[in-house]
Amino acid sequence: MTGSKTRLAELQDHEPSLDEFRSGVIDGLSAPRKFISSKFLYDARGSRLFDDICELPEYYPTRTETGILERHASDIARLLGPRTRLVEFGSGAGTKIRILLDALDRPAVYLPVDISRDHLVAASTDLARTFPELRIAPVCADYTAPFALPDVPGVAHETTAGFFPGSTIGNFTKEEAAAFLAGTHDLLGSGAIMIVGIDLVKDIDVLRAAYDDAAGVTAAFNLNLLRRINRELGGTFDLSRFRHEARWNDGLERIEMHLVSLRDQDVAIGAQRFHFQEGETIHTESSHKYRLDGFRDLAARGGYDPIEVWTDEKQFFSVHALRAR
Ligand code: AVJ
Repeated sequence: MTGSKTRLAELQDHEPSLDEFRSGVIDGLSAPRKFISSKFLYDARGSRLFDDICELPEYYPTRTETGILERHASDIARLLGPRTRLVEFGSGAGTKIRILLDALDRPAVYLPVDISRDHLVAASTDLARTFPELRIAPVCADYTAPFALPDVPGVAHETTAGFFPGSTIGNFTKEEAAAFLAGTHDLLGSGAIMIVGIDLVKDIDVLRAAYDDAAGVTAAFNLNLLRRINRELGGTFDLSRFRHEARWNDGLERIEMHLVSLRDQDVAIGAQRFHFQEGETIHTESSHKYRLDGFRDLAARGGYDPIEVWTDEKQFFSVHALRAR
């Protein structure tokens, strides 16, 4: 890297191991109601498919949140002040952060945290090209478990901010979400500002279409999990014997993604066998939808005071500013 002008620090690599993937899958498929954690959807291909989902006409969250961020970037910049140290949880393709970085006053350092290493490196390299003055310190980690922020030498910051867009917090149960927020409170410190994107409860047909698009991209994203198990764990899933389903769970106010077995069948993963009855499902993701007050209550449980909230005209999506107590 000598002679290169990049301010991109070396990657902190804590990508989940193959063993973690294997035990996560085996445990979930051994449960009475089969499930696999949604964090495993994001291998390189899954991350790319998710980026495609964000462009779908039915998938309103990305463009709605992007609109809110564009309209309020200067409000957010004012809240954060100059020389902020900005940590993004689940940075993905890194599109939304550009809106903030454009508005911020001399950001000190950007720390993108993502579970998909290759995706993270590619996005960080790209960003370094657009923002040559910005220090970038990528961290590959599963942020659902505790992790540490790297020390970036020579960086003096005035404030610390967290950025958790995309309503990704909705993939946690309420209890997990409160625990996650409490964890970020410890990580970022008292006084830190947290900017969180939260999808809102709305018409069920709008919700269902967003998770079961006509082009079948979400179906491919969901089924890619089985493909990943086959490739990485030596699984024998026949992808044509499962179908994608998006369900609205009214009691828990969440969209659930399932993979439905189209027949009675056995599947092996290494030496282990799993039986599926026709119609039995693997629950692969929950996407909780909130009401504004419900999310503020949750933030309070995580140790944050709500300070501002911005929404779109249709009240489809919300962006919350919170301050760590
Ligand atoms: C990235 C977790 C916010 O739950 O809406 C999109 C993932 N799953 N379509 C969501 C997803 C199916 C997305 N998050």
